Amino acid sequence: MRVLSGIQPTGSIHIGSYLGAIKQWIELQEKNECIFFIADLHALTIPRDPKTFPEDVFEMTVELLASGLNPEKCIIFVQSQIKEHTELTWLLNTITPVGELRRMTQYKQKARQFKKNVNAGLLDYPVLQAADILLYQTDFVPVGKDQLQHLELTRTIARKFNQRFGKTFKEPKPLLLKIGEKIMALNDPRKKMSKSLPETCLYLFDEPEIIKKKIMAAVTDPGKIIKYNPQKKPGISNLLAIYSLFSKKSIKELEKKFKSLGYARFKKSLAELLINSLKPFRQKRKELLTREVYVKEILEQGRKKAQIIAQSTMTEVRQKMGLF
Ligand code: TYM
Repeated sequence: MRVLSGIQPTGSIHIGSYLGAIKQWIELQEKNECIFFIADLHALTIPRDPKTFPEDVFEMTVELLASGLNPEKCIIFVQSQIKEHTELTWLLNTITPVGELRRMTQYKQKARQFKKNVNAGLLDYPVLQAADILLYQTDFVPVGKDQLQHLELTRTIARKFNQRFGKTFKEPKPLLLKIGEKIMALNDPRKKMSKSLPETCLYLFDEPEIIKKKIMAAVTDPGKIIKYNPQKKPGISNLLAIYSLFSKKSIKELEKKFKSLGYARFKKSLAELLINSLKPFRQKRKELLTREVYVKEILEQGRKKAQIIAQSTMTEVRQKMGLF
């Protein structure tokens, strides 16, 4: 099965992206043909500093490798280096109703958050995402819940294209985790942990003291019982989800273990678990940051492999659409 997913190079990886998406990528690369990329074109919908943007892309590559992506087992590349992504976006634009784009939750949120810069790219963002996915004849897309609507739109676009021009694209399916599909903010469990709100994030490469501080300060709920109930106890349920995913212990087991020990003991144990689990990630990141040539070569090899697939799809698309 072909698996594809992407991440924007906008700040460090937090445990939301890791538990919702990247952890799945690491597991999937063992038995599937996997393609992962850094979505730098998507990131440009919010202004970036051209001086530091290349470093952001480099840093994200290092972080993905440090999290466990293995270049021997998957293709890793930078979106803007394959021109077919933008070419296909234009062609798909011509069959995508603007009304559907205006309805996208992420567009509405971003348009509210960045009122002074509601650029066309923000609206067109999901079509570029559809192009990313369809270009590679993807079967499965491992993502967090926030991307589900974009995936549905991708499927709709694929269906429409196939109906109008003949079967060309596969209809990709999302891969979501039951627990972990939406990790909430530590400082406000009603909000999603999100890169655009740094105060909501626990980063994968945070130093031990920071991890401890953030976990001990995490907002919990009234009462003392440690029980998973996202509606009534969103704070403790979020921490239980994080604990379960890092320890591979079931929520039930954890509820039993910590039942009446109180929030403070539970948090202390979670902080220790995270500090230990993330230690190898921190070490690998530090090591890779000094190996610039090696990291760039991985992206170059990835670009070469991805381009072959992208070009083959584009040849077919151009033919089907009757381009000269
Ligand atoms: P991005 O960079 O915002 O996030 C990367 C991945 O992390 C997931 N994620 C979360 N999962 C659970 N809980 C959270 N709090 C959380 N925060 C983030 C996201 O769902 C995502 O899977 N548009 C995409 C990048 C993209 C893409 C694609 C993804 C571009 N083209 C094609 C898949 C296929 C994005 O901005 O992800």
